[in-house]
Amino acid sequence: MTLLVSGGAGFIGTNFILEWTANSDEAVVNLDKLTYAGNLGNLRSIANNKQHTFVQGDIADPQVVRSLLAKHRPRALLNFAAETHVDRSIHGPGDFIDTNIVGTYTLLAAALEYWQSLDESGQTEFRFINVSTDEVFGSLADDADPCDEDAPYAPNSPYSASKASADHLVRSYFHTYGLPVITTNCTNNYGPYQFPEKLIPLMIVNAVARKALPIYGDGKNIRDWLYVTDHCSALRRVLTDGRPGEVYNVAGNCEVTNLEVVGAICAVLDELLPDSGGSPRQELIEFVPDRPGHDRRYALSTNKIEAKLGWRPTESFATGIRKTVEWYLAHRDWLDEVMSGRYRQWIDRNYTDRA
Ligand code: NAD
Ligand code: TYD
Repeated sequence: MTLLVSGGAGFIGTNFILEWTANSDEAVVNLDKLTYAGNLGNLRSIANNKQHTFVQGDIADPQVVRSLLAKHRPRALLNFAAETHVDRSIHGPGDFIDTNIVGTYTLLAAALEYWQSLDESGQTEFRFINVSTDEVFGSLADDADPCDEDAPYAPNSPYSASKASADHLVRSYFHTYGLPVITTNCTNNYGPYQFPEKLIPLMIVNAVARKALPIYGDGKNIRDWLYVTDHCSALRRVLTDGRPGEVYNVAGNCEVTNLEVVGAICAVLDELLPDSGGSPRQELIEFVPDRPGHDRRYALSTNKIEAKLGWRPTESFATGIRKTVEWYLAHRDWLDEVMSGRYRQWIDRNYTDRA
């Protein structure tokens, strides 16, 4: 048996594949375009493991997707491949449309053709897992209840709008063609291998170097944070026991403001790296002009996945953030590798002349 995983050289896909190959004998075929966010070095530890086959290619290329399905005959396709950074979607939405919308459509069309060619038991077993985000529900008021799976979609950034489009296409392939799809909407992930453009790794990198910690707006925006391996365990549960056509929220039940997140990172770093004479790292915080259309709060109810699939997160924010800081301190070589010239160009583009 085989899984086809797309986007498996990115942050969450890497964590998923490393855990999968460590705990199962099932083969994994990994289709990844290797954009700036994809890094084959993440998977170096399984480079000689025959269980993992890496294929560089685009999910929006129908020939590539069709031929992989025909060759490997997977029992499931899990799509992690996406353009994922809201700030990049503001500077250039085009790639988000191409990968998140056209790419998801291409995967669906090829998966449908493949699924229709399977015998009855193959069809019953097959799953298409669409890994999505809480951002499709838009911004919540501070006193609003967390969104359940039936909350209306109200995306506000080109990123969340492209993910919302993909979710709608996925839904339509179940209702129209019967393709056994499942969508998961997850809150903000953090942990090993996250590219240092996102809040947590960026703040760790800057705070270690005692550089400014750029907080957008007033820093009181709220996100729910989930340690990445808890997301992977939810996906494994959904793959095994999730019902086709259903949607499952995945969250850490851990809502914190951006200022609290950065405060927690600074506190752990001050303890682990007490540079002599250095002032508390929290003093490095610098308020910068806000992100356009910045969503105030995201929060999801996990009642459904808890009740139906018995999934719960295992990591608290306190334990998860400490592990994350420790991982980045122990993997400076990984950081050096990903913080290349292209990375510097992005940092200049996003943080210089923000106003
Ligand atoms: P990431 O940006 O770290 O990695 C994305 C991966 O997709 C990279 O390896 C990249 O090379 C690959 N990719 C991009 N375009 C591609 C294409 N056209 N064809 C093939 N591969 C392509 O992303 P991530 O944080 O690991 O997110 C994975 C998925 O989870 C995404 O769908 C994202 O929307 C969703 N998600 C992420 C979070 C989060 O906090 N990171 C939260 C909820 C949902
Ligand atoms: P991010 O990690 O980009 O995730 P998302 O926008 O998808 O939730 O940002 C998390 C929060 O941190 C968000 O409210 C924006 C804020 N933020 C900053 O304040 N400064 C930064 O430099 C970055 C990258 C994000």
